[in-house]
Order: sequence, then C-alpha cells, then structure tokens
Amino acid sequence: MRSLIVAFLLFSFQLSAQNPLFIPDTLVGPSINLSLQEGTMNFYPGQVTQTMGVNGNLLGPTLILNKTETVTMNVTNNLMDSSTIHWHGMHVSPLNDGSPHVVIPPGSTWSPLIPVLDWASTYWYHPHLHSHTHEQVQKGIAGMIIVRDNDEAALALPRTYGVDDIPLVIQTKAFNATNQIITIESALDTSLMINGTIDPFVSVPQQVVRFRILNGSSERVYNIGLSNNQTFYQIASDGGLLTAPVTMTRLRLAPGERAEILINFSGLIGQSVQLVSYGSELPSAIYGATQPGMGAGQAIPNYTLNPLNGANFQLIDFNIIAATANAITTIPATLITHSPWLAANSNITRALTFSPQNMGPTAINGPFMINMTMFDMMMINQYVPYNNTEIWTLTNNTPISHPFHIHDVQFYILDINGIAPPLNQQGRKDVILVPAGGGIVRFIAKFEDFYDDTVPYMYHCHMLTHEDGGMMGQFIVQAPPLGLNEEDFMNSGNLFPNPVIDQLTINKLKSNQIIRLYDVSGKEVYSNIIEHTEATLNLSSLVSGVYFVVFETDSNTEIRKIIKN
Ligand code: C2O
Ligand code: CU
Ligand code: CU
Repeated sequence: MRSLIVAFLLFSFQLSAQNPLFIPDTLVGPSINLSLQEGTMNFYPGQVTQTMGVNGNLLGPTLILNKTETVTMNVTNNLMDSSTIHWHGMHVSPLNDGSPHVVIPPGSTWSPLIPVLDWASTYWYHPHLHSHTHEQVQKGIAGMIIVRDNDEAALALPRTYGVDDIPLVIQTKAFNATNQIITIESALDTSLMINGTIDPFVSVPQQVVRFRILNGSSERVYNIGLSNNQTFYQIASDGGLLTAPVTMTRLRLAPGERAEILINFSGLIGQSVQLVSYGSELPSAIYGATQPGMGAGQAIPNYTLNPLNGANFQLIDFNIIAATANAITTIPATLITHSPWLAANSNITRALTFSPQNMGPTAINGPFMINMTMFDMMMINQYVPYNNTEIWTLTNNTPISHPFHIHDVQFYILDINGIAPPLNQQGRKDVILVPAGGGIVRFIAKFEDFYDDTVPYMYHCHMLTHEDGGMMGQFIVQAPPLGLNEEDFMNSGNLFPNPVIDQLTINKLKSNQIIRLYDVSGKEVYSNIIEHTEATLNLSSLVSGVYFVVFETDSNTEIRKIIKN
C-alpha cells in the first residue's frame, strides 16, 4: 500500500522535508462566505484524490474574528451530501452552533449571525453531520478560527499571520491503493499532513515565533517536541491565553485540542529544527502509543502495521532564516488573569460514565456509551438550568483514553484522577483527554448567555470514529423562569420587561447609540440611532421568539438576548 511506504519515509525525521507548508488564506468579518465543495488533490503520484474543502480543494480559510464584533457566516453547501458547520470552542447559541440538528441541505445556504463572545484564542470549524463527521472531516472540511481581543492585543506577542504567527493543522488520513481517502473502520491513518501538506517545511525567522497548533485528526494523539529538545512555551489552551507562558519540552495534544506555543529561534539562523511527535513516549491506552489499550489483550485490528503508532516521527521542518523588522525576541513573563468558578459555588455535580458496549477483548474497538446510552438524535440526555455553574465528573471505564468535548462552554479542569491538572491545562478548555481504565476528570463550567428549550448542544468523544459510533449526548440549556432576569442587566443599558410583549424599554443608554435588533436567523429586524438615554421600542409587530439586541458604541458592541411573547 502506497500510503504505508510514504509513512515509513516520514518515520525517519532526519530526512529533509520536500514540500512548502500550505498557509490557508484568511477571511475577516462582518460577512464571511464559506462554500463547502468537492475538489481534488495530488497527494501522491498516480491517481488524483477526491477531496472536500471550503472555498477550495482542501481545508478552509482561517477566519480572523474580533471579540464583541458580530459576524454573519454564509455557509453554502455545494456538496452532494448534507452537512453542518460547527464553530468548535466558540460560545454561540444552540441554533448557531452547527450541531447535527442544524443541517445544511445540498444547494442551500445557512447564515447564522454570530456575536463573538469568545476570548482571544484558536478555535476551528468542521462538519458535524450525525454519523458523517469523521468522513467529511477526513475528506478535508476543517478550518481554523483566530479570535483576537484587547487583552491579547496589549501583549508583546507575535501576530503576523503566516510570518511569525503560523497555523499548524495536524491530521492523519487513510488512503487506499487508488489514492482515495477511506474512512471505513479498519482503515489506518498512515498518512500525516500539516495544513494538507505532506512532508512539509516552512521558513521561520530567527526570533520568537508563535504556532497555533490544532489536532484535527480523527483519532491520533500527538506528543509534540523539538528535535533539538529545546524548550518552548505554551501560551494558550483551547479557549484563551494562559495566566503565564508554561515552559515545556513536550506537549500532548488530543483530537480537537488546540495549543498556541512560542518557540525562540534566536541565534539559529541557517539551521533547521524539526517539530516531532514523540509517540514512543506516550503511555499505554492512548491512540498513537505502542499499546492503544490498557494491555496487550486489547488490540485494534492492524494497529501494529501502522508505522506511526508508538513511533517518533517528524511533523514539520523549520528552516531558520533572518529575523523580520520589529521581531519579538522575548517571552512575556505573564499573560492574562483568570478567575475560575469555585467548586464551592457550583449548583450541581453531573456524572458521565463511559463504557464499552461489548465487554471483553474487543472492548477497545467500541462502540462506546455514555451513561449506558448510545447517541440518539431524538433523546435529550441532560437538562441544564440557564446560568447554572456545574461540576461534570467524567469517568472512563473503557480500555482507551477518550478526548471529551462539550459545546457551548469553556471549562476549567478541577482535577484529573484526583490531582490538579498540569499548568498548561489550567486555562480555559473545551476538550480533555480522560484517562482509560477508570480515569476520572472533573471540570467546572457556567452555562450562561444562551438557552433554548428545543435545540440542544452536544457533548461527545472527539475521536470522530467514536463520536460517529454513538459516543455522544445532548443537553438543553433551559430557559429561565419568566420574568426579569438580573443577568440581563448590562452596563450600557437595561432592557425590560424581558420577556416582552410589545413595549421594550431600554434605559441607561449613552446618547447617540446605535441599536439593532436581530432575529435568531440573523436577520436585522430593527435599527435606529437613539438620541436620548432612554428609548421605548414597539415590538408588537414581531413574531414571538428570541431576538438579540445589539448596542454599538464607539469602542465596542454589546449583545443581549430578549424573548418576545
Ligand atoms: Cu469539534 Cu462537537 O465538535
Ligand atoms: Cu465543538
Ligand atoms: Cu472515544
């Protein structure tokens, strides 16, 4: 099999890399057009590979968003199949989340209006069609999202995209003998690519360079380090910057996780350094380790034939060139402030237990259940009261580690097997690898800003084969009891009553403030400049439902949700 041979070449990372790293284009708001489409790539000599991409043949543009802006995403599905697009890690309403319930049929456009509420960090987008996520992501649909905010902008960090701020989407795929991407269960992910480039190199200036690393693989966990064993510094986890850079020589990244790291290449001009995955050092019971289960009794078919498993292999070759003007040359001492929710203030502890559907030696091959249940589109597994602060306890009674992911929120890890998480996992997270064999992770999160009594959010294993196989559940964030909601008061204006029947009063406004009202589909239904500090809007002609009131001031945008009865 051709892919096996190519993978063997990658295995020896002394070889110099062949192909310049592809850097996806960028798109910025307030209106972003994304076309899901079929395409082709020449990954290997011989037959071309059928692929899927966004605005191109493979992967998609990097979206650059600013916190507090409001962005309309026009996602047109030009595929032959239905799809969805999920904004992984972003805090959006259930209807805007692109879950398996928000299907985009072929030939149609979905246009959610997204208020960007997220902290500066690296997020991503990918399809989430039930039981087809692995297939559509493997064929090529995925892209990176960079959110910027004022706190991040105030720091001396590299941020010139593609120059000293470089996206690295790490993926492995399985190919058949005719160079086609295959997603059947026995297919092994022998082909490694970064941003869709096989065996890549990139020139980097001899200064501090930031890499935004996304593990966009369906199953594989990476254990990332540098070939010269130089230290590097993690500055961000999934959902935001860390308190301070964390000095490290290895970064373990599970499917769905992101990390931003700084590498200082000063003084290395003319040299080349490789980014390597040290798979040989991964402990057992992780996909990518020598032993993917707890012991030799738990085997994945053909796993040992995959040269990447249990091996150290090159991810990308860095060729160090001259510094840029205004180079960043030092690592900041501190980054941002976090105030995690306190366990003592939680409203409830919710328990989720993972178990294999089949006990015995084939348990590792799934399917896997959460609380003894397989995913069912029609079944809501959890009801979360709006504004709850909750502790979720994840117990993994299976022989393999699972990267658990939850939509809607970023969480803080309280402990992993009873021990505080390592420093680089003490920031905001939306994916956490739950250790096998009875491993327990506890996290805390607050379910604020969005609720919907009919459209759920998802939680699932981010090994996409497991997710598609049913290792997923869904939760509804319940509407608060009717009446004024304290949480809906804001600095720049109070809205009442909420829910509203006809007259909505807004006070404490700055003068000459622009107010816009959008429905849940993102359609603007009202806009006006309010001269005075108080205004009454007559909403009697609007249909019942959820609306967003958006206030634009000189320096920012605020978004409030109201309910029209
Ligand atoms: Cu990245 Cu529900 O997924
Ligand atoms: Cu997600
Ligand atoms: Cu899993």
